[in-house]
Amino acid sequence: QELQLNLEQIEKNNFDHFMLKEIYEQPSAITDTYRGRLQVDAGLIRMAGVDDNLERFLNAKRIVIVACGTSWHAGLVAEYIFEDLARIPVEVEYASEFRYRNPIINSDDVVIAISQSGETADTMAAIKLAKEKGAFVFGVCNVVGSSISRETHAGAYTHAGPEIGVASTKAFTTQITVLTLIALKLAKAKGTISNSDFHMHLRELETIPGKVELALESNDHIKKVADKYKDARNCLYLGRGFNFPVALEGALKLKEISYIHAEGYPAAEMKHGPIALIDEEMPVVVIATRKGHYEKVVSNIQEIKSRQGKIIGIVTEGDTSVRDLADYVIEVPDTIEALTPLLTTIPLQLLSYHIAVMLGKNVDQPRNLAKSVTVE
Ligand code: G6P
Repeated sequence: QELQLNLEQIEKNNFDHFMLKEIYEQPSAITDTYRGRLQVDAGLIRMAGVDDNLERFLNAKRIVIVACGTSWHAGLVAEYIFEDLARIPVEVEYASEFRYRNPIINSDDVVIAISQSGETADTMAAIKLAKEKGAFVFGVCNVVGSSISRETHAGAYTHAGPEIGVASTKAFTTQITVLTLIALKLAKAKGTISNSDFHMHLRELETIPGKVELALESNDHIKKVADKYKDARNCLYLGRGFNFPVALEGALKLKEISYIHAEGYPAAEMKHGPIALIDEEMPVVVIATRKGHYEKVVSNIQEIKSRQGKIIGIVTEGDTSVRDLADYVIEVPDTIEALTPLLTTIPLQLLSYHIAVMLGKNVDQPRNLAKSVTVE
């Protein structure tokens, strides 16, 4: 018994929970994921699975992304990145919906399946269906040798290392890293990005692990914010553009481990419904980084404030406008817009973690949830 406990403590590397350890592993997990692939000095990205099938990708009329849960959110971020950089139309599908609705799949489609475990039953079934219809299927998995990595035609692993906490953290940011590398590679090959812009993206991507470290330094401050809002019954998460999927992911993290009802919304959709929920009891987490519709998000924040909502702003360091309006702000370092999700996700993970710990919940193994869902 004692030996078992000590072993677990060693595995947790003295963190209280696997989830916290995995949140803190993100700088190295992201580095491991782009290591050898991102070659800043040579100005190229090497990924065998993409290089060997470049024609399939370049001739694709569209990319269909299939995934579940947090991996689906990574797919949504990828939609913004692929369309913005590589100008390829992207559709992001819940694997469970896609497989059951007689989808239109063409032989010149590229299907990207994203799965941390590589074992999710619905994602696996969607892959089989796409293959039957002649599509080229590319996997983005974390677990080496998993069923999905074997079933796909080609793929790229995330190198996040084992993820034990049921709530996915480092798998998400490394999935975004891999998908960003693919998008940049295709953008370069298609000529939809200028050389200077391409190099700028490579250099910026290389700074992300250091910036994630800086974002993690807000941990004590985030703990205070968590203490303030831990008793909320509901919570709203808003973001726009690249950070709309981050809002969805932030809400998912909170409900998974703290059992507080949370919803993510595109900030501009707030006026079509969620605004009715806002009163002085409602914390609203708003991702309001300086890049990307900043003024529009600030005006969304004003609307929340005029209805007495409690505002937690995720802002670029040095921000003053949101600070003036918000109850709390949490800063992240500045980066180019397409890479902001890799930073804005960090405080949302920590916020949900601390709230769940304060509420005494089983953070690593929340009720009713499984790390990998191999049933339909
Ligand atoms: C479960 C896990 C989630 C995960 C989802 C998809 O619901 O609890 O954390 O995002 O499955 O899993 P996958 O392994 O396919 O990424």
